[in-house]
Formats: sequence, C-alpha cells, structure tokens
Amino acid sequence: MMKRLMISLFALSLMSGCGQGGNGEQSAASTNPQAQAGNASGNTEQGAQADAASDTNAASAVMAPDPDAILRTSMQARNGVGLDRLDQDSLQIACSNAEDRAGDQAGKLREAAMAAIEFPEDGNYLGDWKKGEAIAQNGRGMQYSDDPDDPNGGNCYACHELAAGEVAYGTMGPSLRNYGQRGQSEAMLKYTWGKIWNPHAYMVCSHMPRFGEAGILTPDQIRHVMALLLDPASPVNKAE
Ligand code: HEC
Repeated sequence: MMKRLMISLFALSLMSGCGQGGNGEQSAASTNPQAQAGNASGNTEQGAQADAASDTNAASAVMAPDPDAILRTSMQARNGVGLDRLDQDSLQIACSNAEDRAGDQAGKLREAAMAAIEFPEDGNYLGDWKKGEAIAQNGRGMQYSDDPDDPNGGNCYACHELAAGEVAYGTMGPSLRNYGQRGQSEAMLKYTWGKIWNPHAYMVCSHMPRFGEAGILTPDQIRHVMALLLDPASPVNKAE
C-alpha cells in the first residue's frame, strides 16, 4: 500500500515537472504541492529539475550560447569540407541581420548578384530532363561524408514539389509542378537559369542555394535541371 502511494506521488511529480517546463509559469514550482510532494517522497532529483525549469536564468543560460561559437568548436574539416564554410560573405551577413534584413543595401546586393550571373554564351539552355531528374532528386554532395570528386546533387526535392506521385518533398520553396506551362521564351529561359544560378538576384535574402554562383552544380547540370522544369515531356509537366 505504501509502495503504491510512493509510485503515484512520483508520477504526479513527473507530471507537474512537465507542466511547468511547458507552460512557463515561473512561480508554480515553489507553490505547487505536487512538486513538493515529489521532494517529500525522496525524489530530490525530480524536485531539482522542477526548480531548474522554473528558473528563468537557468533557462536562458541553456538557450543563450553563441551558435557561431558552438559551430566553430564542434565542426571538423574533413574530405574537402573546410571550416571556411562558417565564414559568411557580405550578402549572408546583411541577410542575417534580423533587425534590418539587408536594409538599404538590398537593392545594391540584388543588382550585384544579377550582374554576376553567367548565362550560356552559346544560347544553349536546355539539356536532358532525365539527367535533370536524377540531379534534382539527389541530395548528396558537399558533406564531409561525400567524395569531393563525385558530382553534387541539386537537392531540389528537399524544398520543391516537382512531379505527381512523389513520396516526399519539402515545402520551403513553391511547387514547381507544371512549371513548363510558362513556355520557353527567352525571358523564361533567362529567368529560370538566373534563378538557379543565383536566387539572390531576384529575391535578395532567398533561402535557395546559389547553384551556379557557388559552384554547386556545373553549367551542364543546370542545363539538365532546366530541361526537367521546361521540357513538356518531363514528369514536372505531366498530370500523372
Ligand atoms: C533550401 C531550399 C531550396 C532548394 C534546395 C531549392 N530551392 Fe528553389 N526555391 C526555394 C525558395 C524558398 C524559392 C522561392 C523564391 C526565393 O526565395 O528565392 C525558390 C524558388 C525557385 C524557383 C522560382 C519559382 C517560380 O515560381 O518562379 C525555381 C525555378 C527554383 N526554385 C528551382 C530550383 C531548382 C531547380 C532547385 C534544385 C537545383 C532548387 N530550386 C532548390 C528554395 C529552394
């Protein structure tokens, strides 16, 4: 009988501990009889956790560390991936400034990104959509576990819906299904190429990677991905 009472007190103290962590009521731990019962039943560790959860200073000490410092102490240079990955360029610094995302510089940064796009000199924008599909659905590359000599994938599926019947895709970017309906005018070819080459040329603080500018994909790979988006025979442009 005594044992059962102890167990139920313990369960109550667990429940009250969870509640305080989630609802953020700072004074609850010291006045809550359930938390005190937890201590009384000999479960001092549980009581201590409840107290810690109720202490704003303790909580902020856990939340506050500089993420850059954590990355710099925990990341290792391996297999072609260097610590220089952690150095932001001027555009990333401007866009990471939460108070004034790019601010006055936005127009200039966007124009500079646009001016640096390298369009195909021979006017050849479209490759083979089948190769493009393999690239778009491949998320490998640029990780320390990847062979730096292997071509990178485009990882497009991680952010975009591309075709009917896909099992999984990300939704950070808009669906690209039926993208080819916009046609293949020179303006569309240039816009699509430019967007893949450097999305910041169109939306200055875009979250999409700079596939051409950053050398993630080669111009030939971009041609194949372009065909995936624009070729009427590609699965992107098929209803089923
Ligand atoms: C990390 C997420 C992410 C990845 C990976 C990504 N994109 Fe995007 N993409 C976006 C976002 C977000 C947008 C919306 C506009 C913007 O923010 O630039 C976008 C917009 C686009 C657009 C313009 C859409 C429109 O309606 O005009 C195209 C085209 C595009 N992406 C193609 C690609 C291709 C091709 C790949 C792979 C090679 C790719 N994206 C990979 C996030 C991503």
